[in-house]
Amino acid sequence: MIHVLIAAELKELLEQPPLPGFEIEWIPNTAPTPRGPYVGAVPLLSRPFGERELEGLPKLRVIANCAVGFDNIDLAAAARHQVVVTNTPDVLTESTADLTWALLLAVARRLKEGSALVAEGRWSGWHPQQLLGLELEGATLGIVGAGRIGQAVGLRAVGFGMRVLYTDSRRRDAFELETGAIRESLETLLAESDVVTVHLPSNAQTRGMVNGSWFAMMRPGALLVNTARGDLIDEPALLEALTAGRLGGAGLDVFPREPIVHEALIAHPRVVTLPHIGSATTVTRRAMAELAVQNVLEVLRGREPLTPVPLPTTGGEAAPR
Ligand code: GLV
Repeated sequence: MIHVLIAAELKELLEQPPLPGFEIEWIPNTAPTPRGPYVGAVPLLSRPFGERELEGLPKLRVIANCAVGFDNIDLAAAARHQVVVTNTPDVLTESTADLTWALLLAVARRLKEGSALVAEGRWSGWHPQQLLGLELEGATLGIVGAGRIGQAVGLRAVGFGMRVLYTDSRRRDAFELETGAIRESLETLLAESDVVTVHLPSNAQTRGMVNGSWFAMMRPGALLVNTARGDLIDEPALLEALTAGRLGGAGLDVFPREPIVHEALIAHPRVVTLPHIGSATTVTRRAMAELAVQNVLEVLRGREPLTPVPLPTTGGEAAPR
């Protein structure tokens, strides 16, 4: 029997049996990555796959990450070992855009403070100056990275009457037509946006890019939303900008050292912290699990996977698998 490793946490989401003809080893995310003649792996986004793991899996042909992000996988090592890498784009675009908006609205309308006021019995009745937030109609939303999720976030902004600016490596004509969004330089976007939302992958170019100079360029009191990856943000700089009141608030679904979240962020009345649930709807999580497994099947049957991640070209040769 040919063995495939699948994260045990996906078992309930998948139709049984997920890979007819293959023996599945369900591996809990907390367990170390096994070594052995496995041919496929479906890991969660928090399981690292680098040289060490790949050396212990000499027969591996595919890593089907159950996430759109793939920063847990060393793509150069995968290329060296001739292992195909896939991810789960598209199926999670709408749920992640929804959660981005949940955070945006929560921070713009100060839901954390309001909820605490009621829960702690401190609410003394309607007051005309209580918890005044940001009026979204006519405000500017800055989308950093207008890929699938960034664009889905921008589409929703139309319903709220927001002006949309975006940065991206290329012009998104259909998106501009649908939303009236304008492509700007990062400097202009930061200077003009009332809310900035980040939708970039985590890689060597983007890690830590939301730093002190970003916050200095942002409008005083502007809001930041991040449903992409925690390490895009320089956390000490974020805390400083919040403490100094330069940043009006933040909605964060992702953190640099998950599941650890900085206490000062948890405690801050203008910061909403969520446990990385951007794609957490039943429909989406099922679709992600199914897509990842389908990718394994395609590769093991000698076909192109549905959603491959491009690998860097390697100089060195590794033994074909
Ligand atoms: C979630 O963060 C994902 O990358 O799918």
